[in-house]
Amino acid sequence: MLNADIEKVLVDEKQLDEITTRLAKQIDEDYKDTKNRLVMVCILKGSLMFMSDLMKKVTVPVEIDCMKVSSYGRGTTSTGSINIYLDLIRPDIEECDLLIIEDIVDSGNTLSYLTKYLKNRGAKSVRTCTLLDKPSRREVEYTPDYVGLEIPDEFVIGYGLDYAERYRALPYIGVLKPSVYMQK
Ligand code: PRP
Repeated sequence: MLNADIEKVLVDEKQLDEITTRLAKQIDEDYKDTKNRLVMVCILKGSLMFMSDLMKKVTVPVEIDCMKVSSYGRGTTSTGSINIYLDLIRPDIEECDLLIIEDIVDSGNTLSYLTKYLKNRGAKSVRTCTLLDKPSRREVEYTPDYVGLEIPDEFVIGYGLDYAERYRALPYIGVLKPSVYMQK
């Protein structure tokens, strides 16, 4: 039964499976000839579930790492500032093709900043892969290299995405009922 706080399911488990299968094939194709170490970098916490499903389907040799950053203040709006809480710590970054894995691109601030930051640290290449993209919300010009699905500006949760740390464990992407986050 649907969680009572969910208005509708936007992307169900079957669609998520199809999306990760398609993206993994594209990644396999694009990195099959690389001489560098391919590292998928999970941006915690929202990308946990997407990253774990995606990396199981990628067949080229891949290493994994994590970063924790934050662009959001409290509630539903972006502040535009990026804090790094857990950095990428590895001595061989100059030998790596980094593929940043995100759950969602909203303002574009996080990936725009992270791409520049990791290139400046000497990575051979930096690309980005997002499950969801909300182009209508951009504050900076930014286009991810791999996109699972473009979505309208709705408040989505589940499959790693949260509202106030809730709903991350749901196996689908749902739209939250406005009554849950609107001031009453
Ligand atoms: C979300 C999301 C991205 C970022 C996207 O993370 O996971 O990292 O915001 O927004 P932007 O394009 O406006 O920068 P959040 O800070 O909510 O952390 P979480 O993944 O731990 O939930």
